[in-house]
Amino acid sequence: MSTPTSSQLLDVAVSAAREAADLVARGRDGAGAHVATKSSPVDVVTAVDAASEELLVRRLLTARPDDGVLGEEGASRNGTSGVRWIVDPIDGTVNFLYDVPAYGVSVAAEVDGSVRAGAVLNVATGELFTASAGEGAWLSAPGRTVRRLHTGRPASLEQTLVATGFGYRAEQRRAQGRVVAELLPRVRDIRRFGSAALDLCAVAAGRVDAYYELGLHPWDHAAGALVAAEAGAVVSGLRGAPVGEPMVVAVAPSVAEPFLDLLAELHP
Ligand code: IPD
Repeated sequence: MSTPTSSQLLDVAVSAAREAADLVARGRDGAGAHVATKSSPVDVVTAVDAASEELLVRRLLTARPDDGVLGEEGASRNGTSGVRWIVDPIDGTVNFLYDVPAYGVSVAAEVDGSVRAGAVLNVATGELFTASAGEGAWLSAPGRTVRRLHTGRPASLEQTLVATGFGYRAEQRRAQGRVVAELLPRVRDIRRFGSAALDLCAVAAGRVDAYYELGLHPWDHAAGALVAAEAGAVVSGLRGAPVGEPMVVAVAPSVAEPFLDLLAELHP
């Protein structure tokens, strides 16, 4: 079987993400009824997360039966085609539970270990962020013209609006809180939206200038990091490490150097 193009993979990702988003939207009102916890008492998972992941895997493997899959709720399958799908059935599960309108379905396609296509769909707003390698990042939203995304261009660190997020373990949060306390007086302000995938898309859309978070999983950042990179963001780990090992940073190029230096200083 020949290797699919990035845009063919993106089409599959978008159609699976749309179906999963419909399922998630239908499940919102009863979301509180079936909630369990995972790594800590604040790390929640709903029955809708599981149903969304099951649907995504079924749709992706129906379209491309030889592919591998990795999902937040346990999907894990080695394929034979060189393509692996990385899915987050609801990124921003706490927002979903509370009806805060920032939770999304995230679908990425990796080819031989590098992400080539990604779709992040905010279920609550209908905004769909997409990217395929080398072809830019795009936003389509109900009733609006599709537009190409570009990061912001802050002139300095002091004018940089920064998003971040926190893990679920208390000790990790304490450490992350200390870093934020040091960062806050040195940047424009801090945002905590509650969905890593949407945070990365917010960098792409220039809604924030930078995002960083320690300890994410591949399903949190695979699609969003491609969207951010295709919008021109510098996407990196700390001190030149690969993305996600263990930090994910996406930052507008105009402040990338001082921002990455500052993060390195705050994470000795
Ligand atoms: C979480 C969200 C959150 C981030 C956490 C993630 P989940 O994913 O992306 O913004 O701060 O680190 O685990 O649990 O909602 O899929």
